[in-house]
Amino acid sequence: SSLNSKLADKVSFFTGDITTLEIDVIVNAANKALRGGGGVDGAIHRAAGYNLLQSECQTLNGCPEGEAKITGGYKLPAKYVIHTVGPQGEKPGLLQLCYRNSVQIMLDHKYRTIAFPCISTGIYGYPLEPAAHVAVMEVRKQLEKYHEDIDRVIFCLFGEIDEQIYIGILQSYFPV
Ligand code: APR
Repeated sequence: SSLNSKLADKVSFFTGDITTLEIDVIVNAANKALRGGGGVDGAIHRAAGYNLLQSECQTLNGCPEGEAKITGGYKLPAKYVIHTVGPQGEKPGLLQLCYRNSVQIMLDHKYRTIAFPCISTGIYGYPLEPAAHVAVMEVRKQLEKYHEDIDRVIFCLFGEIDEQIYIGILQSYFPV
């Protein structure tokens, strides 16, 4: 249908380092203290300027699992970072909330483009394929509601295995 192709046009994947993306918002897979860490969190803090990003993060009073908070992007090519805290292990309801709340914060600020890493699938141990279903299904739901306010959602993948999984899942949730 024309809605399906309109939605599919707004979604894509990129394989590589999320800190290279020139976009309104990149999402960080953060911890509850918003203190920085390893994985994508470490990469984002390094590229933004660790002290610059940390001094803003430390004004936010942490972030509960499933919720999200926004900061500037500092030295990143992205304008803003939305920090969300994924579940530890396979908890689909919380993972879904990470995607929903991140999109919601972007919309509240009237930004139009956002890139997500595969939240919780590294250090937090959520298996990639079930996590990808949750991620892509929730993005589809948000795009159905808010496609007039969103120009692009990018799934930022980090390896060939992620790519194989996402290619199939994107086709099933975003048929053209
Ligand atoms: N760009 C894009 N994706 C990346 C990058 C990067 N530069 N670096 C790592 N990734 C990918 C990982 O391969 C994984 O698929 O991000 C995904 C999420 O992995 P983690 O960064 O380990 O995040 P998560 O599993 O949510 O664990 C969060 O790790 O770094 C700490 O402070 C963070 O305590 C929190 C925990």
